[in-house]
Amino acid sequence: MARIVLGVGGGIAAYKVCSLLRLFTEAGHDVTVVPTESALRFVGAPTWEALSGRPVHTDVWSDVPDVPHVRLGQEAELVVVAPATADLLAKAAHGLAGDLLTNVLLTARCPVVMAPAMHTEMWDHAATQANVSTLTERGVHVIPPASGRLTGVDTGPGRLPEAAELYAVCQRILAHATHDHAQGRAPLPLRGRHVVVSAGGTREPLDPVRFLGNRSSGKQGYALAAVAARRGATVTLVSANSSLPAPAGVAVLPVETAVELQEAVEKAALDADVVVMAAAVADFRPARYADAKIKKSHDPDDPERAPSIELVRNPDILAGLVQARAEATSPVIVGFAAETGDADGTVLDHGRAKLRRKGCDLLVVNEVGVDTTFGQDDNTVHILRQGSSHVVDAGPASKYDIAAAVWDAVQEIL
Ligand code: CTP
Repeated sequence: MARIVLGVGGGIAAYKVCSLLRLFTEAGHDVTVVPTESALRFVGAPTWEALSGRPVHTDVWSDVPDVPHVRLGQEAELVVVAPATADLLAKAAHGLAGDLLTNVLLTARCPVVMAPAMHTEMWDHAATQANVSTLTERGVHVIPPASGRLTGVDTGPGRLPEAAELYAVCQRILAHATHDHAQGRAPLPLRGRHVVVSAGGTREPLDPVRFLGNRSSGKQGYALAAVAARRGATVTLVSANSSLPAPAGVAVLPVETAVELQEAVEKAALDADVVVMAAAVADFRPARYADAKIKKSHDPDDPERAPSIELVRNPDILAGLVQARAEATSPVIVGFAAETGDADGTVLDHGRAKLRRKGCDLLVVNEVGVDTTFGQDDNTVHILRQGSSHVVDAGPASKYDIAAAVWDAVQEIL
């Protein structure tokens, strides 16, 4: 049974959360309710205390010697916020810590579920949507509001889903999170490990305004970094041109080109236990960089002629890491590959051949097709291990779930 913090925001849907609390306690979970001050205008503290069997506080000034604002978050195995009001989403996205609940959100390293509920206009507002994106990118599970009758006469998206639905989502997330406990593994299986993750896509400059790049968003690499941090690792994230926010507890080293990425990764890899190459690295770069912008009519003899760009090979960073490791067992090296099936073989055939060629320990094979994975929140992969015919298929699932499957596979090797 899990230790759950149930955060309650100041919205009318707070009354539905009483039923959610009942479902949790009847299932045997140990629930501490942390309402905001305004939540108590809708449902009072005695109700929460009676239903949870625990005292209820909204600020950080009660039981101070017990440091509840840190302890509650640290000890939680799941934090659920329902209803998550527009105000609470904004505070969480910006890391404000004015009351007990927002402190819990900053100290928790367990899965966090937020169930927004508000009027449609507030939900649709660009500010709210931007906050939701930020939270989702950091790994918060945001349960989209249901559509239907709102307070008053209006209808539209903004309703808090029914308690049973919220409960089902939380149980699924908890089952995943407590999998490690059930397997008898340490709760923080990567504690004491230094892991290096590369993410994003490199850019190879042509002139001061142009570059050769690719469509990688960095989402999968950022999810890998976030999950490793949650599992206790010290994480260095070498990030090529991604605009995503830094995951909690992760050191980000921004780079632009393949050569910069190589330098940063190789340096960080010196004392690393694991290196995951999730970045899309350009195989080629322009042979020459033009110090001044290349003009449309760059050839005075033939103003209509387009310039040719000569390319040279970039270093294969993954191959270099494998070579540098030579006989040693450390670090564990994980490669990624985007593959398509063709006349010469299936995606898995190509994946296996690449794993042998690259010599890394694990290869995470992305199937790319018409529906590419670039920029999407979900992904489907096959995880191949060197010297084994066993394949772990993961997805379609969120890039966080995929990251969890990759770290499970790495942990088996560690
Ligand atoms: N990679 C790298 N350095 C490069 C290119 C790729 O380290 N210059 C890494 C990627 O980060 C990824 C893995 O190699 O982990 C697979 O990249 P991919 O481009 O699919 O492999 P290639 O060897 O370029 O294979 P292909 O011949 O299919 O292009």
